[in-house]
Amino acid sequence: MTSLRASSSVRFSLPLFAAAVAFYSACLVSMSDARKQGSCNNKVLPCGPPSFTFYLHNTVYNPAVDNKDNFNSIYGLPPNISFPNPYTFGVMNTFEEPITSGPSNTSAPLGKAQGFYLLNSFNEYTLFHVFTANITEGDYKGTIAIFGQVREVDPVRYLTVIGGTGAFLGARGLAKNRLIDIDHAPPAKWTMSFELDLYY
Ligand SMILES: *[C@@H]1O[C@H](CO)[C@@H](O)[C@H](O)[C@H]1NC(C)=O
Ligand SMILES: *[C@@H]1O[C@H](CO)[C@@H](O)[C@H](O)[C@H]1NC(C)=O
Ligand SMILES: *[C@@H]1O[C@H](CO)[C@@H](O)[C@H](O)[C@H]1NC(C)=O
Repeated sequence: MTSLRASSSVRFSLPLFAAAVAFYSACLVSMSDARKQGSCNNKVLPCGPPSFTFYLHNTVYNPAVDNKDNFNSIYGLPPNISFPNPYTFGVMNTFEEPITSGPSNTSAPLGKAQGFYLLNSFNEYTLFHVFTANITEGDYKGTIAIFGQVREVDPVRYLTVIGGTGAFLGARGLAKNRLIDIDHAPPAKWTMSFELDLYY
């Protein structure tokens, strides 16, 4: 009985096995087609640094003091409206700021940050940031793409790392932001830290 059942299961499974082989080969063919078409997504990212901290130094251009030789960010035109706009909703600041490894503007340079923030609240100061940190000095070189809201009243702001190149290729993660120092005397200057937790 046992051997009969065994032999019958072999007999019935042979066509199944053949079908499985045919199916598997068809999969292999379509996988290699997918590879040729560049749609394969089973590549593994190299591991970059798991954490990275940098500091941005912003000096705003202020027409009142005309600091044209000493600025790294500029506000665009305010929206043309006839009602009060106390938090300058809709105004963009474009920047190209030095990045350092420490909080002082004389700390070791790491590169520069290029991007913008948009004031996007009617009720308070919120600065929606989109920028690339281009790290050209130090152990890790590459770019880090940062995206997210800086709500001025929050002591810590959580932005996202949405990508990277070079040593930071494919990075995702969290960018913890803090205001380190601010000098309101025109032209306004401030330093912010970005502490990144990175995943690849
Ligand atoms: C602002 O809007 C008003 C009313 O539409 C218009 O007359 C004026 O030319 C606009 N100013 C600018 C700088 O576009
Ligand atoms: C660096 O910071 C000091 C102190 O706030 C300031 O006097 C100096 O102008 C700054 N240097 C640059 C290059 O921004
Ligand atoms: C980063 O800066 C370096 C040096 O200026 C430059 O060669 C490179 O193209 C920059 N990368 C980006 C994405 O701007």
